[in-house]
Amino acid sequence: MRKKLFIKTWGCQMNVYDSARMADVLAPLGYDRTEDQTQADLIVLNTCHIREKASEKLFSELGRLRAVQTARAAQGVVVTMVVAGCVAQALGEEIARRAPYVGLIVGPQAYHHLPEMLTRAAQQKAGGACVLDTEFPAESKFDFLPQENGNQKGISAFLAVQEGCDRFCSYCVVPYTRGLEYSRPWAALVDEARVLVEGGAKEITLLGQNVNAYHDEASGKRLADVIEKLAAIDGLLRIRYTTSHPLDMNDALIAAHRDVPKLMPFLHLPVQSGSDKILVAMNRKHKADDYRRVVEKLKTAQPKLALSSDFIVGFPAETEEDFEATMQIVRDVTYAQAFSFKYSRRAGTPAAVMPAQVPEEVKEERLARLQALLRQQQTDFNKACVGQKMSVLVENPSRHEGFMFGRSAYMQAVRLKGDSAMEGTEQLVLITRGDPNSLTSEA
Ligand code: SAH
Ligand code: SF4
Ligand code: F3S
Repeated sequence: MRKKLFIKTWGCQMNVYDSARMADVLAPLGYDRTEDQTQADLIVLNTCHIREKASEKLFSELGRLRAVQTARAAQGVVVTMVVAGCVAQALGEEIARRAPYVGLIVGPQAYHHLPEMLTRAAQQKAGGACVLDTEFPAESKFDFLPQENGNQKGISAFLAVQEGCDRFCSYCVVPYTRGLEYSRPWAALVDEARVLVEGGAKEITLLGQNVNAYHDEASGKRLADVIEKLAAIDGLLRIRYTTSHPLDMNDALIAAHRDVPKLMPFLHLPVQSGSDKILVAMNRKHKADDYRRVVEKLKTAQPKLALSSDFIVGFPAETEEDFEATMQIVRDVTYAQAFSFKYSRRAGTPAAVMPAQVPEEVKEERLARLQALLRQQQTDFNKACVGQKMSVLVENPSRHEGFMFGRSAYMQAVRLKGDSAMEGTEQLVLITRGDPNSLTSEA
């Protein structure tokens, strides 16, 4: 009999990809995904450790799911609880201690071991011990994942090309939770992209913690080569990639924005801060003007390019003047969209023990000012789209009768007139309305 698998995912797109891949690994064992946790035989929590708030979510969710597990036990069903992802990697032993009802803890580089771990968990059930695997194995999990990635059925699919990070920004847990930079072999990526397109994907977003650092050891291929190769796949309409580091923005990749029409003119290029002093303390290894220059080159190559970014406010020793430099870079570059966060102290990172930690109220106040500016820019960007014809990749029916939902080249949510026959097609539509979070075409 088929069994039910419930996966809850937090964090970045890589986690969304990993959740789909875990479902692929578990499918041969008889598991189908369900959205209903109360019916689950197996529960996977795929976690994020990037900020304190993200990590805390795991422990509150575990409490709630414990009740589901108990209710199912009363019906005679044994539900195994799995904690995966970056919190599993960072706090595996603490989870096992605080939540002894968790059967299995698996890090982001070890989930191809899930089948044998489940067998071990079943054997150990009587003893109540937890099975833990947070090794960074010598082999790459990608070599052990099923070719078929049947769990990404959507029009827009993710493809991990690179994982981990060697940059060691002083605030960031990623190099510790995901491990060091690893690029997948070129041929495997092209194969996986073909499988995705055959399965119905019209858009592929290439993923990596530092995606533009991609380099295939054997062939010397870089991200621009991957993009070019994928652009030749019939049926694939759009290509994106995220997340990039400004220093890895090489000329070939910049040129791809000019030369490859399928590469969308929208780029997430985090700058974090506009202050050189803070950028040094963050170990970003570039100045604010280096970033401005990269943006200029990109816009020269592709005048239609719009940008998105991440910002951290209240990094240790950030003064009002430093913060003003961040506001200034936002005014100079202008963003179509952006994410901004209060600095969060992460144990084990160099910034956590830096002197002059910024008080919470100051962080909050600065974040509010930055977000007001970013929101204004996003609203302006959306309003400027009114009256323009834009290409929309139609994804699914909208909640509004007679309308479909899709995405513009700039990832804006667009509501447009039409029906399900449009799903998976690109439509050129006249934008009649621009709101802060979405566009509408009533034409
Ligand atoms: N690989 C991505 C980053 C992943 S984390 C990149 O290099 O851009 C996503 C964002 O979270 C980061 O860009 C940063 O803005 C933010 N972030 C990371 N660590 C943080 C911390 N300790 N406190 C607050 N924000 C953080
Ligand atoms: Fe973290 Fe910096 Fe690497 Fe991005 S580049 S994942 S922020 S260490
Ligand atoms: Fe979070 Fe890990 Fe992604 S910490 S942001 S899930 S790499």
